[in-house]
Amino acid sequence: MKKLVVLTGSGISSESGLKTFRDSGGLWENYDVMEVASLAGWEKNREVVLKFYNERRNQLKDARPNEGHVGLVDLEKYFDVHIITQNVDNLHERAGSSEVLHLHGILTRAKSTGDPTLTYDIGYKPIHLGDTCEKGFQLRPDIVWFGEAVPAIEEAAAICSTADIFAVIGTSMVVYPAAGLIDYVQKKVPVFLIDPNEVAVPIYRHITFIKEKAGTGVHLLKETLMSHYSQSLQK
Ligand code: APR
Repeated sequence: MKKLVVLTGSGISSESGLKTFRDSGGLWENYDVMEVASLAGWEKNREVVLKFYNERRNQLKDARPNEGHVGLVDLEKYFDVHIITQNVDNLHERAGSSEVLHLHGILTRAKSTGDPTLTYDIGYKPIHLGDTCEKGFQLRPDIVWFGEAVPAIEEAAAICSTADIFAVIGTSMVVYPAAGLIDYVQKKVPVFLIDPNEVAVPIYRHITFIKEKAGTGVHLLKETLMSHYSQSLQK
């Protein structure tokens, strides 16, 4: 099977009712990003940070995967699909995707502030001040905050370097190192970008834009890929 690598951002979860970050009405319009998504913000006021992620975790509980997520699962019938997501929601997994790599962590896990190797599956439960790991250290959301390292970036780059097809869905491509993953995709590899809005991308690459929301865009991507690879898919 051809290897289809997909980089997703918050836009793919927008049709599930979860806000993006930088669109109008997005999360970063209502919250000071450095207050709720940085180590400095955590040190300054842990309660504000815990409240922010507890609310998002609560919203996630009631959200459902949408056609965009489900369409990527359907493509697994024809392609070896690997999803690299910047999203901290679990909608790809809940849709049934087999290969999902989270670059920025996940809402349903907590991490020890004293020993980062200690992480706990917490489902949709809130984290409160005083909740500790087995070593007695305060728990924090297992999310990668601004200024923190992205532990999965090397694994993601390796996946991108072996892609036969690369697709970008619902990300503004402004946050690094995630936005730089496109540079690991080999030159000969076709690249598709699904987004209803303009997205700034590297000019040295030929990119096929599908100017649609994810739900519709993934369907169109499937049609394009099925007609392009119909020969090899029959084998
Ligand atoms: N379908 C597809 N794309 C959409 C949709 C939709 N229904 N709705 C909005 N979009 C697009 C927007 O046009 C925009 O290009 O999704 C993108 C969302 O961009 P951002 O809000 O910047 O979110 P994202 O790229 O995921 O942010 C990257 O920044 O804040 C940090 O760690 C956080 O992982 C996040 C990272």
